[in-house]
Amino acid sequence: MSATIEGGRLQTAGRKAAAGGTRAAARRPAPARRTEETGPARVQAPAAEPRAETPLVSLKHRHLLGMQGLSSEEIEVILDTARSFAEVSTRTVKKVPTLRGKTVVNFFMEPSTRTRSSFEIAEKRLSADTLNFSLSQSSVVKGESLLDTARNLEAMAPDMIVIRHKASGAPHFLARHCRSNIINAGDGWHEHPTQALLDAFTIRGKKGRLKGLRVAIIGDLMHSRVLRSNIFLLKTMGADVVVCGPPTLTPVELERLGVQVTFRIDEAVEGADVIMMLRIQRERQKGGAFPTTREYYNLFGLTVERARRAKPDVIILHPGPMNRGVEIDSAVADGPYSVILEQVTNGVAVRMAVLYLLAGGTPGGLAD
Ligand code: CP
Repeated sequence: MSATIEGGRLQTAGRKAAAGGTRAAARRPAPARRTEETGPARVQAPAAEPRAETPLVSLKHRHLLGMQGLSSEEIEVILDTARSFAEVSTRTVKKVPTLRGKTVVNFFMEPSTRTRSSFEIAEKRLSADTLNFSLSQSSVVKGESLLDTARNLEAMAPDMIVIRHKASGAPHFLARHCRSNIINAGDGWHEHPTQALLDAFTIRGKKGRLKGLRVAIIGDLMHSRVLRSNIFLLKTMGADVVVCGPPTLTPVELERLGVQVTFRIDEAVEGADVIMMLRIQRERQKGGAFPTTREYYNLFGLTVERARRAKPDVIILHPGPMNRGVEIDSAVADGPYSVILEQVTNGVAVRMAVLYLLAGGTPGGLAD
């Protein structure tokens, strides 16, 4: 398959049709060009680690279901492509015709503020047609199955389905039964791959690298799909990951994923380059994982004093939504080391890159 940007529009040929098929491992990039619509052929990138040319690989799979199994090359391609798309959001007219004529269904069966709006903005900035579909507006509340819902959506010939679902594996199930490209926007306790990618984009933008960084991830480790996706991504990229939470919210299998586990927050943040706080997911907890939120804050909440144990240039992330005064103090969340809102900004560029690459776009994005 080949893919080029003509006047900012994605042109593809010979696209693989089979569900679950793989992409050609390498593509020749189209020549760089400049047009009225695309703007600069090569955009100014934020600080990033010096590295060789973007490798000529793209995503091997036609779906993005999780970070588990993605290679470092695939992750690099998404992050490098997102750098190119970040520039679009700084323009007066924040739109390129790259996905004109494509239809994307945002199928959100769980609440979302950031992910859903971020995907929708990303799709609109790429000129895709979007359909938003939530639990309360769907016939799922009348008892329709996920498969029947998906088949009916497919009958309207969308190109991509972005799905958030309370059941782990729901995106994988759709991928087995649908022709569309499936993007996991969070499935149960399992994975939230675009969150991990935007976190990595944010960290790399600030630190210039991922390899060798000490990343402390603290909070409700049991129910966090953000944690799992971040562990897979960060370990693949060579970061050192330490996780910390109450024993009642720490699954035993985490050590098998190659991370250090501690129940003491001071130990976790000691010397950290990056601190990522996770939300306490009260709605997923069946009962008494900890006595009170005040006790949780006393033992595991990130305060300014605790953050001082980290490196002087530490950055602090949180995927949101935050429980202020429970897992994080407002003075930290709104303080000088917080990059929480930058994560949200970067989410649009990362999702533009994912949509573009899954549609067959050339690695590197608008630059190529
Ligand atoms: N980070 C995240 O997934 O937030 P939402 O639940 O608001 O989408």
